[in-house]
Amino acid sequence: MANIVQEIKNALEFYQALGYERMPMRLRAEGRRPVIGNKESAMTLLREEIAECGRCKLSQKRTHIVFGEGNPDARLMFIGEAPGREEDVQARPFVGDAGMLLTRLIEKMGLKREEVYIANIVKCRPPMNRDPEKDEIQQCREFLERQIDIIRPDIIMSLGRIAASTLMGNEKLKITAIRGKIFDYRGIPLVPTFHPAYLMRNPKDKWLTWNDAQKVLERLERGTLDQGGG
Ligand code: URA
Ligand code: URA
Repeated sequence: MANIVQEIKNALEFYQALGYERMPMRLRAEGRRPVIGNKESAMTLLREEIAECGRCKLSQKRTHIVFGEGNPDARLMFIGEAPGREEDVQARPFVGDAGMLLTRLIEKMGLKREEVYIANIVKCRPPMNRDPEKDEIQQCREFLERQIDIIRPDIIMSLGRIAASTLMGNEKLKITAIRGKIFDYRGIPLVPTFHPAYLMRNPKDKWLTWNDAQKVLERLERGTLDQGGG
């Protein structure tokens, strides 16, 4: 009972920080939520809310939760799968070998890591880097959804099959069939591409991800023009 009260209190504080005066009742059904208020403090509240998370079994073996990092007002958001060993130790997303490749991609796009936001589908490392399981994704995805609601990026680039299939709600997707195409994730353009760990094993496919990144950049540029910024 005390837990439920605490959860409701957390939720109310969260929406208050986003600028709501009342609890919005049909947010999920409405897709993208309007966020007015302070993104930075909303993100801090969410991070604090997750701090002791024990929702799924991944919590038992983790060293740290890997919440995500970057600019809470980012126009571009990257979504990976799950923390690996290095991420679990450092409590930061994409800081191992795959992370170096992602960082290089971001820089090649003319951006800095601090300008974008980087998060994962699940926030704790699966043992032996196995794929996150259905129940783990189910328990954790609310947190990612709330991160997306705070940031409201202009575009999302998902990394690998698990991220794309989770966001698109379809487990049977083939990454080779969907990568580089623009989908809609609750009103936000979503461009799936390969996972950097896959690209390390298959460097000949790197140019495909670079093509996908160009598509993302074109979209971002168009968005800037629409806003009168160009
Ligand atoms: N792979 C992921 O999917 N996410 C990370 O944070 C690191 C490696
Ligand atoms: N399989 C995946 O899970 N991700 C890729 O990027 C490629 C193949």
